[in-house]
Amino acid sequence: MKISGKTKVYGIVGYPVRHSLSPVFQNEAFKHFSVDAVYVPFEVNPERFKEAFLGLYALGVCGVNITLPFKEKACELCHLLDEASSLIGAVNTVKFGDKIEGYNTDWVGFLRALKEEEELKSKKVLVLGAGGTSRAVLYALSQEECKTYLWNRTKEKAYELAKVFGAEVVSHPEEIIKEVDVIVNTTSVGLSDEDPPIFNYDKIEEKHLVFDVIYKDTLLLKRARERGARVKDGLSMLLYQGIESFKIWTGLEVPLEVVKRAVMSL
Ligand code: ATR
Repeated sequence: MKISGKTKVYGIVGYPVRHSLSPVFQNEAFKHFSVDAVYVPFEVNPERFKEAFLGLYALGVCGVNITLPFKEKACELCHLLDEASSLIGAVNTVKFGDKIEGYNTDWVGFLRALKEEEELKSKKVLVLGAGGTSRAVLYALSQEECKTYLWNRTKEKAYELAKVFGAEVVSHPEEIIKEVDVIVNTTSVGLSDEDPPIFNYDKIEEKHLVFDVIYKDTLLLKRARERGARVKDGLSMLLYQGIESFKIWTGLEVPLEVVKRAVMSL
């Protein structure tokens, strides 16, 4: 690509960020539409986040994605927040203009990915985990009027989120598994192949759709597939959240196949 004095700069801010797939597919999206822009990683020391964030604004960077561990802190630094990011309490997309605008596209990414498999309207869903990703998932499910059951290792956090998003807390996943249509893992369990299962995965049935936000074939997904359930990992969610961010910055909708191809060719 040719960089000129007019090239716009976008990026991703996180710590760590070097394994992020976003630069790969966002640059492909710019190329697809022949937009004169570049998307780069910014690995920022957590102690210097505020300085770095306001520095990007001052430098005239056009927009950034925000990833772990800065999504909540970014919320506090934006001048304007959309409804979703304000309720979720986390920003993953920032548009720098006269003002700093904060958005959350994780929840849209989740919905679009899940809807590739089935309509969610009024479905019963078990959500595992009560961290930042869980908040985006619970917001998305509330938009679809789903009945949500929430399990978390630390119970206080589950009750806190249940209040905000209207979920019912369960003391163990197996208590409710027979009742639900969809199971969503938002915990980090499964990142390592050595992680012990959260519950007895043999309880999963053919009728279930099992979604893991981790983008690899986790033990949960492997067992669910063996039980005849439909499964989906987090790659589509990641790509769709990026597609939504790109739309916020440029007004353009990049096809899923374009960004998927870029990631698959790595
Ligand atoms: P993210 O933003 O990716 O959601 P997070 O906010 O740090 O990350 O949340 C991590 C989630 O994984 C939490 O629900 C956490 O449970 P706790 O609230 O009890 O800490 C969950 N988690 C992490 N390790 C876990 C483990 N070994 N067993 C069960 N849950 C775990």
